[in-house]
Amino acid sequence: MTTSRDSTDLPLGIVVVGASGDLAQRKIIPALFALYCQGLLPQEFHVFGIARTRMTAEGFRELIARNLTCRYAPGESCAAKTAAFLERCHYASGSYGESGTFLDLFELMRGIEGRGPVNRLYYMAIPPTVFEEVAKALGDSGLVACGSKREWSRIVVEKPFGRDRASSDRLVAEMHKVFTEETTYRIDHYLGKEIVQNLIVLRFANLIFEPVWSREHIESVSLTWKEPIGVGMRGGYFDQFGIIRDVMQNHLLQILALLAMERPRRFDAHAVRDEKVRLLRCVEPPTLDRIVVGQYGASESGTQPAYTAEPTVPPTSLTPTYAATVLRINNDRWRGVPFFMEAGKALEQKVNEVKIRFRPVPANIFDASMGGVAANELTIRIQPDEAIELRIMNKVPGLNMVLQPMPLNLRYQTAFNVGIPDAYECLLLDVIKGDRSLFIRADELAAAWDIFTPVLAALEEQSVRPAIYPFGSPVNATGTFPASG
Ligand SMILES: NC(=O)c1ccc[n+]([C@@H]2O[C@H](COP(=O)([O-])OP(=O)(O)OC[C@H]3O[C@@H](n4cnc5c(N)ncnc54)[C@H](OP(=O)(O)O)[C@@H]3O)[C@@H](O)[C@H]2O)c1
Repeated sequence: MTTSRDSTDLPLGIVVVGASGDLAQRKIIPALFALYCQGLLPQEFHVFGIARTRMTAEGFRELIARNLTCRYAPGESCAAKTAAFLERCHYASGSYGESGTFLDLFELMRGIEGRGPVNRLYYMAIPPTVFEEVAKALGDSGLVACGSKREWSRIVVEKPFGRDRASSDRLVAEMHKVFTEETTYRIDHYLGKEIVQNLIVLRFANLIFEPVWSREHIESVSLTWKEPIGVGMRGGYFDQFGIIRDVMQNHLLQILALLAMERPRRFDAHAVRDEKVRLLRCVEPPTLDRIVVGQYGASESGTQPAYTAEPTVPPTSLTPTYAATVLRINNDRWRGVPFFMEAGKALEQKVNEVKIRFRPVPANIFDASMGGVAANELTIRIQPDEAIELRIMNKVPGLNMVLQPMPLNLRYQTAFNVGIPDAYECLLLDVIKGDRSLFIRADELAAAWDIFTPVLAALEEQSVRPAIYPFGSPVNATGTFPASG
C-alpha cells in the first residue's frame, strides 16, 4: 500500500542484521532482488549483511544466489541482473553486542558508499532477544542519522514484539532511545499480503457491503489459520512463544481489525491505524473459559513426531500449538457477534481465511421441499489460492423450483493476469517510500497485547495442560469450540 512518497532520492544502504539466517536468506534478500529487477530500488544502493557467522563476501553472495529467482527478470536478463545485484551485496561479521562490530560495518559502508549523505534501512532479521542490544550498538556507533538531516535511518523489526504487554512496552521504550516511532517499522508480513490489503478496498470501495456490515446482518465471523506442518527445527523459537503469540496476537488480530474497524477519515497511515486501534480497544480480552488450547501428538501412522519429541522442544513443554477462542467486540456495530478465532500447526491442511456468515433471510417464502435457504456467506481466502467467494442462493436451471447455494467466485489466479508480489516486496518498498500504513504503531501493539496478555498469564500461571491431538488432525483439539455465549 503506497499512499505517500518519500522525496529523497539519495543512495540507499540496506543493512540486514542476521543476514546468515532463514528470514534474511529466504525472504528479505530475495524481495530486495525482486524490487531491484523491477527498477524499484534507488539507482545507487548496497546491501550489507551482518551476522556472527564468519563468511567472506564471496561466500555471502553464494548463499544469496541459491535463493534468487528470476520472476521479474526472465530469460537472458536473469544472469546479468543476478550478477549486478550480487556485486552490490557485502558482508561483515562480529558479535552483535559489541559496538566494534558496527564500527567495522561503518568503515565497510563508508569505503563502498563514500562520505556523502545516504539513507539507511536497518532490517532486524534476528531473534527478538537481541533487538535491544543491536539497536543500542547501532546508536553508539553513530550509524543512525538524526532527525534534522536530509537523509533518513529507518529500522524494520519483525514480530514477535515482546511476550506480553509489559515486555512489549519495555522493548518499545528501549528501541525508542535510538529510533523514533516515526522511523520504526514493525512488520506483520500478513499486512503485506495482497488480499489482506484488499480488505479495505472491499469494504470501503463497494457500496453493497457497508450497509450489511454489522450485527444486524452478520451472525458470526470466523478467522482461521492452519498449517499442516509441525515446528521442525524451529521448535526452540516457537516453544518460547506458542501459537497465541505467534499467530493470533498479530496476524489474526490485524486481519480482524481491518475487517471490523469503522471507516477511516482518509486512506492514509494515520487514519487507518487510528481506526484499528479504536477497534482493538473494544475487543473484550478472552478468559480461560473462552479458550481451548491443544498440542500436537504423533501422527496416527507414527510417521510424524509429537511436538514434545521435536528435536528442539523440551519434552515436558506445555506450549500450545493450537488454540481456538471467541472474541467479542463491545461496540454498537458488533455487540453480540462472535468472532471465532482458530490457529494451529500440524493440522490437516494449509489454510488462512475469513468467513463472514450472514443471518438467514427473515421471511423465507420458499418451501422446504425446494431445498431450503442457506444463509449467505462471504469467504476471503488469504492462502493458499487467494480468493473472495460469496455464497448466494440460486435456482437450479430446470422446470422445477429447486434452490441451491452457489459460489460467486473471484479467484486471484484466474481473475488477474499478474503475479502476486510477495508480502515482503510490498512491505520493503513501503519502508523505502516512508509509508507506514501497513506497519504496527506502538499504541496498536499495546492494544493487541492487552487482548491476549491476561489469558496468556492465566494459562502459564495455572500450567494449563493442552489437549493432545494427532499430527494431521482435521478438527480442533477438543472437537468443540469454546462456549460462544
Ligand atoms: N523465518 C521466518 O520465516 C520468519 C517469519 C516471521 C518472523 N520471523 C522473525 O524474524 C526474525 C529472524 O528469523 P529467522 O528465522 O531468520 O531466525 P534465525 O534463522 O533463527 O536467526 C537469524 C540469525 O540470527 C542469528 N542468531 C540466531 N540466534 C541468535 C542468538 N541467540 N543470539 C544472537 N544471534 C543469533 C544467527 O546468525 P549468526 O549466528 O550468524 O549471528 C541467525 O542466522 C525472528 O525475530 C523471527 O521471529 C521469521
